[in-house]
Amino acid sequence: MARNGELLVGLDIGASKASVVIAKRAREGLVVVGRGYAPLVSAGHVTLSDAVRYGAVVDLDATTQAVRDAIREAELSASCSVHSAIVALGGTHIRGVNTHATIAPRRGEVEPPDVERVLNAARSVALPSGRVVLHVLPQEYVLDQQESIVDPVGMVGARLEARVHVVTASESAVKNVARCCEQAGVEPVEFVWAPLATAEAVLTDAEKEVGVAFWDFGAGTTDVLIFYRNALRESFSLGFGGSCITRDVAFGLQTPLHEAEFIKLHHGCALSVAVEDHEKVEVPGVGSRPSRLIPRRELAWMIEARAEEIVRLLWSKVRELEVDRYVRCGSVIAGGGAMLPALDRLVQGVTGLEARLGATRDSHRGNGTEVLDDKFSRDPVYATALGVLLLRARWLDQPYDRFLTRRGWWEWTRGRLREFWRALWV
Ligand SMILES: Nc1ncnc2c1ncn2[C@@H]1O[C@H](COP(=O)(O)OP(=O)(O)OP(=O)(O)O)[C@@H](O)[C@H]1O
Ligand SMILES: [Mg+2]
Repeated sequence: MARNGELLVGLDIGASKASVVIAKRAREGLVVVGRGYAPLVSAGHVTLSDAVRYGAVVDLDATTQAVRDAIREAELSASCSVHSAIVALGGTHIRGVNTHATIAPRRGEVEPPDVERVLNAARSVALPSGRVVLHVLPQEYVLDQQESIVDPVGMVGARLEARVHVVTASESAVKNVARCCEQAGVEPVEFVWAPLATAEAVLTDAEKEVGVAFWDFGAGTTDVLIFYRNALRESFSLGFGGSCITRDVAFGLQTPLHEAEFIKLHHGCALSVAVEDHEKVEVPGVGSRPSRLIPRRELAWMIEARAEEIVRLLWSKVRELEVDRYVRCGSVIAGGGAMLPALDRLVQGVTGLEARLGATRDSHRGNGTEVLDDKFSRDPVYATALGVLLLRARWLDQPYDRFLTRRGWWEWTRGRLREFWRALWV
């Protein structure tokens, strides 16, 4: 059995599940060779797990078990043993801020160490204690008064400014996710913010260039990321997701949570007007009570109220931050929650801009990275884990790679040792 040395392993720890994608790099792109999935089961509740709340692990054992099961399934399907993974994590403890820093290039001409220095300066701006930097994502460089520079190396100037989007996370939340992985026998070599990975799997380069609002509807959180000119301009999360909708349905229909989840998945709709008058839904009775039939429109009302509230809240934040001007080609919705019928129409109605349902397969044709697995096309369960690998493949080709993500301690130490030996060599 092969070890995962030459394979890339992406692990997504969401509020409702752990999912794993194993891929190998081929000349044409990434070839998916295995995958695994396990729902998070905490206190007997499947898919409404309280093991991960708002993205922070609160039940270590349940989360560890889900990671272990998903890894085992992926190992079996890929016939390899996994000992390390790039881990996607999410939640409201993760925050993105726009910041900038300025330095004077040492020799008048911008050299790679100058770019490293300015990114380092941007990274250390106003980081409160207890928080760690996950990503430093360059938006643009300004050299003297010249703006919108993508790569300033080789250019002449006296003042180099980097404008970046810094994504930070709660240190303890990251440590707890790392602990789950380690207890499941997987070393986390790198952490990636989950919606950033999903966006990589789902958006096209053209959309990111023209300007798009990306919505990741998860179980515990809904995230919005605004891309423009191939850079992340703004991002935020709300601690409401699919679980909230399920809870509303359970409350509204007076039925247990697992039944409400089933009803939502099979009969749910985000728009009551999209439901026909004659459609009926069977609601199982509690205990020995008989089941009853209700109009499907009644269910849609409950779902629509919460879904619209979530979308309106997030869109008002987009407008408040004045980044709606970047959203030139509308919205792309993804995550498990986006499978709710008519959610794209709801988003379209609230934003007044076109919205489409994003699927993994759409984006990678012609991008240089092909995901070569037709069976594995549209399942949103794997979009984030796959996106992690696509991001890694993209970042490998970029300079200043180490600023882009937060590596595990071993990767970090190895990087420092490499820099030390390189310095001695020169
Ligand atoms: N067909 C469907 N209709 C409605 N909702 C769905 C459907 N399929 C999945 N969902 C919902 O999507 C959510 C799970 O989505 P996803 O797997 O993206 O979440 P997660 O990654 O576990 O959570 P988070 O991103 O918040 O950490 C659940 O709330 C589930 O009810
Ligand atoms: Mg998710």
